[in-house]
Amino acid sequence: MSGKIIDGKAVSAALREQIKAQAQELAAKGIVPGLAVVIVGEDPASQVYVRNKEKACAEVGFYSEKYALPEQTTQQELLELVERLNQDPKIHGILVQLPLPKHLDEKGVIAAISPEKDVDAFHAVNVGKIMQGDYRFLPCTPAGIMELIHAAQVSVEGKECVVIGRSNIVGKPMAMLLLHENGTVTICHSRTRNLAEVTRRADILVAAVGKAKFVTKDMVKPGAVVIDVGMNRDENGKLCGDVDFEAVSQIADAITPVPGGVGPMTITMLLKNTLTAAQG
Ligand code: GUN
Repeated sequence: MSGKIIDGKAVSAALREQIKAQAQELAAKGIVPGLAVVIVGEDPASQVYVRNKEKACAEVGFYSEKYALPEQTTQQELLELVERLNQDPKIHGILVQLPLPKHLDEKGVIAAISPEKDVDAFHAVNVGKIMQGDYRFLPCTPAGIMELIHAAQVSVEGKECVVIGRSNIVGKPMAMLLLHENGTVTICHSRTRNLAEVTRRADILVAAVGKAKFVTKDMVKPGAVVIDVGMNRDENGKLCGDVDFEAVSQIADAITPVPGGVGPMTITMLLKNTLTAAQG
């Protein structure tokens, strides 16, 4: 028997309808949610993400501006743009697509974004608020995963939750959100000993490793809920996640596919954060 597939596209579509309706209510009061997306350089994956973000904005009736800056942009030029957007009343959310080219200081750029417009929730003020459990914005990918867990009617309370990956964008905030819902959380990473032993304890397993089919069936407890954050290419160039879906779906209670799982949720949560910022 194969596990239940958590349909990120469907959950995402339903949420986007709600966001669109709320944007219409705001528009009636003369406020159109506005997002500025900044991309530096030519990274093809980033270009696809940025295009999808603009398209999603248009679909829910948001205003958006895209700034595609050349690879050789200086830190000073980027900071000046961020400052201009901080002051622009049409813009409620600012997103600087990561990673930035190597000569730029990512931390400095994130620190320059006004915390009120930081719809990625990457600024230290927003990260700190999340740690304290008192926040307006949640980072988009972990927030989207929580929505999927809720949509699948999975309760986190008291469960063994294992997150593989400790990035600032996914792993660390993911652990915090599971903790907020009273999960017992373990974060695994490249130095974790006996990884399979730890992951096999998980009732809820989140894979954010960035390696194709890294999580194999022997690493998963039968009946677990498996969330796959990966976006990789397999040996045939086909898009695949961090989880060996074919094998793991046979024993998981519920699992997210790639594509069509976590991916669509990330942009949806960006729209939600932009709406929140516009609501003031
Ligand atoms: N690069 C990969 N994921 C993200 C994200 O969520 N936000 C930004 N700004 N850049 C990213």
